[in-house]
Amino acid sequence: MADGKPRVFVTREIPAAGLDRVRQECHAEVWSEPLPPPREVLLQKVRGCDGVLALLTDKVDAELMDAAGPQLKVISNFAVGYNNIDIPEATKRGIRVGNTPDVLTDATADMAFSLLISAARRVVEGQDYIRAGKWKTWEPLGHIGQDLCERTLGIVGMGRIGMAMARRCRGGWNMRVLYHNRSRKEQAEQELGARRVELDELLAESDFVSVHADLNDTTRGMFNAAAFRKMKKTAVFVNTARGPLHVQSDLYTALKNGDIFAAGLDVTDPEPPAQDDPLLTLPNCVIAPHIGSATVSSRNGMAEIAADNLLLGLQGKPLRCWVNRQ
Ligand code: DGY
Repeated sequence: MADGKPRVFVTREIPAAGLDRVRQECHAEVWSEPLPPPREVLLQKVRGCDGVLALLTDKVDAELMDAAGPQLKVISNFAVGYNNIDIPEATKRGIRVGNTPDVLTDATADMAFSLLISAARRVVEGQDYIRAGKWKTWEPLGHIGQDLCERTLGIVGMGRIGMAMARRCRGGWNMRVLYHNRSRKEQAEQELGARRVELDELLAESDFVSVHADLNDTTRGMFNAAAFRKMKKTAVFVNTARGPLHVQSDLYTALKNGDIFAAGLDVTDPEPPAQDDPLLTLPNCVIAPHIGSATVSSRNGMAEIAADNLLLGLQGKPLRCWVNRQ
């Protein structure tokens, strides 16, 4: 461009806290439709761009990088997770990739916490019961849920969000904390008395299993029929990370057969689930539409970091949150 401003494509409207600066400092085309750009459109829109600000719904792979062209310097993901991006491919091409950690940690842990308690205490099922006109009187034997105090919490993926969830459950309900993680987390052990265990032990011992792991080839489908069978029949499964960490048909069967008590999901596979997905018929499954980070400060913070990452990458500078820093 004659004025020297870089060209970028922003794949959806994000909060003005970040978008305004991108618009000021770049020739920015912003996809303003409510649904993501279709693949063919995305490939066409990125052509000739120096930077792309992407969402977790956009697949950023070699084909997209080829479509953009060799001038592409930076991909800034408006998310902490980046399983939508082929990181090795970006790295091979010298394309910087940024993400938005920290600012959504508390909001996402709050979501996991609310799904846990909603599923354990059958809150949504109760609301549906009232709305269906079925509530006739106070029922001594009705709507019995699970206790929370001093139970055992199993965290799978003890990163920032897993730690924040564990703090809530330990501080609020004095839960015993088990965790399964690639590496030892001394802070969790010292601060919360958490114990690192193998997955099988965690599944067998936990009353609540909350997943906060990255989605990758090792973790994809780790919550399958075999895993659900290892859990307590009274257990509650919570997934606020990525839908493909669980096998949705196996989760349905486990909930339907009473292999586990309930589930609270902020993520599904696929997203959104098909309208005829049998999971949607189950009273013991609470589902939210991937809104863990949907608070004002989290989304504004994500927009600020995503804009910083994009603008820094365009200048060839270190990103504020740099996924593929070598
Ligand atoms: C993320 O950031 O990865 C969440 O899933 C959406 O905020």
